[in-house]
Amino acid sequence: MQPQITVLDAGGQYCHLIARKVRELGVYAEVAPSETPVAALAERKGIIISGGPSSVYDPESPTMDPAVLASGIPVLGICYGQQLIAHLLGGTVSKGERGEYGFAQLELTNTGTVFRGIAGRQQVWMSHRDLVSAAPPGFDVLAHTETCPVAAMGSVERKLYGVQFHPEVAHTPCGKAILSNFLFDVCGSEKDWDPAGQVLAIEEHIRQVAGPRNIFFFVSGGVDSTVAYTLCLKALGPGRVHGTYVDTGMMREGETEFVRENFARLGAQAFHVVDARQDFLGALSGVTDPERKRHIIGEKFVEVQEKILEGEHYLDGHWILGQGTIYPDTIESGGSAKADLIKTHHNRVAGIQKLIGEGRIIEPLTQYYKDEVRAIGRELGLAPELLERHPFPGPGLAIRCLCTDEVAAPQRTEDGWIIPVSSVGVQGDSRTYKPVLALDAPPAGEEEAAAIVNRRTDVNRIVGTAITCRPMSALRVAPAHLTADRMNRLRRVDAIVRKLCVSSGFEKDIWQFPVVLIPLGIPARPDSVVLRPVDSVDGMTARAVRIPPDLLDAIAQELMEVEGIAGVFHDLTNKPPGTIEWE
Ligand code: XMP
Repeated sequence: MQPQITVLDAGGQYCHLIARKVRELGVYAEVAPSETPVAALAERKGIIISGGPSSVYDPESPTMDPAVLASGIPVLGICYGQQLIAHLLGGTVSKGERGEYGFAQLELTNTGTVFRGIAGRQQVWMSHRDLVSAAPPGFDVLAHTETCPVAAMGSVERKLYGVQFHPEVAHTPCGKAILSNFLFDVCGSEKDWDPAGQVLAIEEHIRQVAGPRNIFFFVSGGVDSTVAYTLCLKALGPGRVHGTYVDTGMMREGETEFVRENFARLGAQAFHVVDARQDFLGALSGVTDPERKRHIIGEKFVEVQEKILEGEHYLDGHWILGQGTIYPDTIESGGSAKADLIKTHHNRVAGIQKLIGEGRIIEPLTQYYKDEVRAIGRELGLAPELLERHPFPGPGLAIRCLCTDEVAAPQRTEDGWIIPVSSVGVQGDSRTYKPVLALDAPPAGEEEAAAIVNRRTDVNRIVGTAITCRPMSALRVAPAHLTADRMNRLRRVDAIVRKLCVSSGFEKDIWQFPVVLIPLGIPARPDSVVLRPVDSVDGMTARAVRIPPDLLDAIAQELMEVEGIAGVFHDLTNKPPGTIEWE
């Protein structure tokens, strides 16, 4: 499908959120690198330039083809996008006296075009330090806030607009109306997008690509691979679609049974569970370093998958590979292409690379975002408990079960106790691996928590203490490895947390909730639990979510009943500087 709107990616997750919102308004949009030449955008009804973490004065920062701004195609710049328009067209961008992060009151001085139907003061969401201090010649200032003199600007004849705030986030209630005005009034877009209505077309596409060949999948049990598999099943019939699920032993409680039952319900005939639990546990025995764990798991996956590919003759010409790749996975954005290695994700299997190289692959969901995949899944009649699942990392619980060879005692500081267990973080786009600070009392707000991590260079993460069986001075970090016992303990506590989150409704308020086991305790109770609920858009950045006090209390009480548990902590660290997973 030809997109009507292209979102030029000036960095990170912002562009995807914008494209998703445009699609929610019924207009097909795609994301492209910010420097895409105007010739490649000629058919577009409009262009949106995303926000980004850079400053336009930084020589490394993303820029765009200036000809786009002279092409007559309507353009809306958001945050960094507005600054880029100002910078390229002769306005002034300067460093603000202070940053503006969070809610701001927008004072509108113009209520036409993109602000049609929106009047007076509006609450908006800001996240910037640089700002446009003088709009370019020919532009009108359309709105300001207390700290931001040009919170919106526009040139009606040239159809160029900019906003400093973020209309794409839920915290800007008038944001949807602004995007809608831009799409339909300024660009003249038409509604052409309804993912749930695409099911029959996707099935037809699958039949065309497959031809006489059958399809096999490695399924994870997650939303994407299940929806992709179901589409193929409907397109070709159960006899022609095989699915294999590898049980690594690093899965959550009841997961393998859940997946097995689900695939049976879908009508899958050729669905196999391969039990590789001993393989994985054996390979990980005695390993404590997070990156080594990830490499070992990646290599094991390669080995197991290669064996299956060869054993089942999937590499001969009668088969193609199905995968649940979704739209954000397909895009090489500037940000991720240049990114420092924070964590190693799964390697690609050689046999799979061969199939991809030969074009023997089908990925029915590469056009869709996660929420659209869910809409397709609902259309296919898949169960809500399957579609609303939180994301779960490939290496599974192995990266939530922290290991060490050392004995060490918590250290007292003026802010709280330093727990000598290291976790991975990301600061200034680089990987960190540092101990954790357990505060005496949780900070009043997120900003205070962030300030503590920024001030101290010896930690990259902070936690609050819900309960411990002894005073912190009596607890020790002691040698602990990835054993079947510890995995079972982690599975148990994870299942308890999940049960209480579902029954309290908290599960719906968060994006993901890792539960982490750390080797801190006393000999009779060698481990503690860290709760890490986060809110996020796509995992690139995340906000730590506070657990309601009653729920935290209920979780802590029940976890302390589990054999071997000495304490319960809750993670208060945003990403950055923490990562979502501890390893
Ligand atoms: P981090 O810990 O990097 O996690 O902040 C961001 C998101 O990615 C998930 N994650 C993974 N997913 N394979 C995956 O498929 C992996 O190796 C992996 N590591 C982290 C994590 O759960 C979070 O949603």
